[in-house]
Amino acid sequence: MAIPKNIILVIIGFVVTLFSIVLATPGTATFYTNYVPSACYGNKAQGTRIAAASDSLWGGGKICGKTFNVTCTGPTNPVPHPCTGKSIVVKIVDHCPGCGGTLDLSKEAFSTIANPVAGVIKINYVQ
Ligand SMILES: *[C@@H]1O[C@H](CO)[C@@H](O)[C@H](O)[C@H]1NC(C)=O
Repeated sequence: MAIPKNIILVIIGFVVTLFSIVLATPGTATFYTNYVPSACYGNKAQGTRIAAASDSLWGGGKICGKTFNVTCTGPTNPVPHPCTGKSIVVKIVDHCPGCGGTLDLSKEAFSTIANPVAGVIKINYVQ
């Protein structure tokens, strides 16, 4: 007996879901406020849905212009519930040499997903 098509579709859906969970990378995020000039775009402002990449992501600038969907997953410090429950898509416009975290978000982007009082948060990000 052949396997019914709808079962195969359910299995494919399950594998795709698993795959996207695996592709979400955990990290930490901080924020910054002076957006221009940037390492990727010089004096051309790119709005506020932006972020700077830490050394681990920078890759000599190859990451410039790539977008990431960033979700707050929890606190890194005693500020108890920093996450707003929202996520935000940001574009990499700058390099943050020696940044402790993974992504340095614009203050606006950070404030969308978390309370800026927290300063540093745990995130998941998907390219
Ligand atoms: C970003 O990720 C969140 C959480 O996984 C998801 O709910 C949301 O739809 C995503 N947004 C975009 C634009 O992909």
